[in-house]
Amino acid sequence: MIVLGIETSCDETSAAIVKDGKAILSHVIKSQTDIHKQYGGVVPEVASRSHLEALVPVLTAAFKQAFAADLDDKTAWEKIDAIAVTKGPGLSGGLLMGAVSARALAWAFDKPLYGVNHVLGHTFANFIANDSPKFPLLSLTASGGHTQLLLLRDLFEYEVLGQTQDDAVGEAFDKVAKMLGLSYPGGPSISRVAENGDRLKYRFPIAQLSSRYDFSFSGLKTAILRELQTAVGKTHEFPSFKIAPHLSSQQIADFAASFEHTAITTLIKKLSQAITDHSPATVVIGGGVAANKYLQQQLSSLPAEVKILPAELCTDNGAMIACLGYFQAQHQPSDDLHNLLIQPSLSL
Ligand code: KG4
Ligand code: ZN
Repeated sequence: MIVLGIETSCDETSAAIVKDGKAILSHVIKSQTDIHKQYGGVVPEVASRSHLEALVPVLTAAFKQAFAADLDDKTAWEKIDAIAVTKGPGLSGGLLMGAVSARALAWAFDKPLYGVNHVLGHTFANFIANDSPKFPLLSLTASGGHTQLLLLRDLFEYEVLGQTQDDAVGEAFDKVAKMLGLSYPGGPSISRVAENGDRLKYRFPIAQLSSRYDFSFSGLKTAILRELQTAVGKTHEFPSFKIAPHLSSQQIADFAASFEHTAITTLIKKLSQAITDHSPATVVIGGGVAANKYLQQQLSSLPAEVKILPAELCTDNGAMIACLGYFQAQHQPSDDLHNLLIQPSLSL
C-alpha cells in the first residue's frame, strides 16, 4: 500500500510517499528555520503563509522523486492508495494548510484520507528505519512541543507513562539558546558550542516530581537565568535578552554544555527508570531532540539497546505521517474527507 503523507504542524512543510509504512519512495522537507531565525522563534502567522507557499512545490517535488511525474498526473495518482495528514497537535494555521490541501487532493483523486496524531508520528518514524519493532515498545518523544514517555502494548494500544508538566525539552533548548545569544533552532546551536564547553562547570538541578516518569524543564531554565545574571554581575531583575553581549565565548560554551548535560541526563534517567520498570522488547526515541549527538552517546548507558534515527526522521517530516497513516489504514476506518477537522491541542 502506498501512502502520501503531509506534515505542516509547525515550521517544516513536508510530503513523503511511502510504501507499506517502510520503503520511502520520496521525501521532501522544506524547513522554514531561515525565515523564523530573524524573530528568534516560530511566528505562527508567518509559518502558515510559508506552508501555503511551499505546499504545491513540495508535493510536486515528492511526485517527481517517486514517480518522475507531475502532481496532476492521473497515472501517478493511480499508484497512491491513501493520503495521511497531520491533524494535530500543532499551530492551527499550519495544520489548516495541510488539512485543506489533503482534503482537496483526496476529493479530486478519490482517495481515502487519514488524519494522524503528530506526536504518535514521531514514534512511528522508528517503524520506517528500524527492523520490525517488537511490543511492548517504550517510546520517548522529545521535541519542541512535547516530552512524553509512551508504552505501546500493541500498535494502537498505548499508555502515556509520563510527560512534561511545563516546557518541552526542545523548547528549553530554544529558550536557553536565546539567552546565550545563539540562533534558532536552539538545539543544534547549543550542541555546536557545547563541544568547546565544560559540562560540569555549572551544576543545575534535575526536577524531582511526584510522578516518576513526568518531566519539568522550566525550573532548569530559571536556574540558568539566575546563574547567567550572577556570572555577568547583575541582579535578578536584569532582563534575559540583555545578558548575551556580556558573556565571553568560553562562558557561552560552558553554559551550553552544562545545560545540555542536565537536559539530556534528565531524559536518560527517566528512560532508564521506565526500561527497568517495564522491560520493553523495543525502545525507541523520536522528535527533534532525538537528533542530539550527546543524547545519542548517552544511550549506550541504558540497560536496553536504542536504535538511532537519521536526523531527518527525528525532526518533523512527512514520512512518519505516511507511515502512521499506513498503520491506521490497516486497523481503522478512514476519515470523512468533508469533516476532517484540525485539532491543535490533540493529545494521546
Ligand atoms: O520534532 P521537531 O522538529 O518539532 C516539534 O514537533 O516540536 O523538534 C524541534 C525541536 C526544537 O526545539 C529544536 O531546538 C530541537 O527539536 N532540536 C534539537 C536538535 N535538533 C533539533 N535539540 C537538541 N539537539 C539537536 N541536535
Ligand atoms: Zn514534531
